[in-house]
Amino acid sequence: MEITNVMEYEKIAKEKLPKMVYDYYASGAEDQWTLQENRNAFSRILFRPRILIDVTEIDVSTRVLGFEISMPIMVAPTAMQKMAHPDGELATARATSAAGTIMTLSSWATCSVEEVDSTGPGIRFFQLYVLKDRNVVRQLVKRAEAAGFKAIALTVDTPRLGRRESDIKNRFALPRGLTLKNFEGLDLGKIDKTDDSGLASYVANQIDQSLNWKDIKWLQSITSLPILVKGVITAEDARIAVEYGAAGIIVSNHGARQLDYVPATIMALEEVVKAVEGQIPVFLDGGVRRGTDVFKALALGASGVFVGRPTLFSLSADGEAGVRKMLQMLRDEFELTMALSGCRSLREITRNHIKTDWDTPHYLQTKL
Ligand code: FNR
Repeated sequence: MEITNVMEYEKIAKEKLPKMVYDYYASGAEDQWTLQENRNAFSRILFRPRILIDVTEIDVSTRVLGFEISMPIMVAPTAMQKMAHPDGELATARATSAAGTIMTLSSWATCSVEEVDSTGPGIRFFQLYVLKDRNVVRQLVKRAEAAGFKAIALTVDTPRLGRRESDIKNRFALPRGLTLKNFEGLDLGKIDKTDDSGLASYVANQIDQSLNWKDIKWLQSITSLPILVKGVITAEDARIAVEYGAAGIIVSNHGARQLDYVPATIMALEEVVKAVEGQIPVFLDGGVRRGTDVFKALALGASGVFVGRPTLFSLSADGEAGVRKMLQMLRDEFELTMALSGCRSLREITRNHIKTDWDTPHYLQTKL
């Protein structure tokens, strides 16, 4: 039967994938409250569409960090994509380039930056976990630069990994034969480089818990690439990110895999947007599954969104073709939402095109 929305890929992936892999992709931290809330919160935002506007021409293209892209929908970094499909990140890279948008490659990818580069032209960002061994980080960043990556998405919400209980129950481990390719060939000091899962646990244990704002300056001293700070969900941190010269902010709760009971990202977005006062672009990821979600994020001030699990599930279901179709469906739905709201370009999407359940103070709600 024809697939008609992005969420249907999850069911197919669940049937196709080994339980350990599906659970790793799907799950969130602890009670998974934030996981549900990332989706639910979108349903508390309603449209105020404008009518009788000529919408024969709709332009969904935009610019991100100066790069012209086909739509404000991009691919978030998600680890270990070869567990989903043998082509892994290479299929995602091809599909994302074909769609004319940006792919973010995870530090924990099962294909290297060079392999992804070899798939052909495309605008790509590299997601960075800062490890204790700064020499390894330096080598990684240099390789990403040399492979033509255009920005660093620095993940800042993961001083330790969140507790994902199904991974504990399943004793999750990187399947045999797969390896975290970006760390291959680097000078990692004393580890057994021939053992794949040894490499994976080494890398996870190497995340630097001391990472702090000063390290952004250090990162700027070793690369000229723009740095997006991924994982900001408060106004306070948004202001500091601007002060430290971030090129942009990604409002993210890591797909609800880190601290449970943080708000849905769509709920946190507006306070971050207000705090940065237009000085740098603000992006969002978390729970985006529909074109209407994309529109709502833009109406609240995002410059674009990233999708995580939809990439993994469409890749699992149908490889490159699946990811292409997933991106196309989101694009089509987003364009339709614009037409039905009376918006012909992203510039025309305003805060007045939506209303949220926090727009009207509670004490007034009963009177209206
Ligand atoms: C992630 N995410 C993630 N983030 C990151 O910075 N580095 C990484 O390696 C990963 N890996 C990863 C694996 C899996 C299985 C998931 C589901 C997520 C988080 C990701 O970039 C993004 O923030 C969320 O996935 C967005 O939420 P949705 O679209 O999955 O709801």
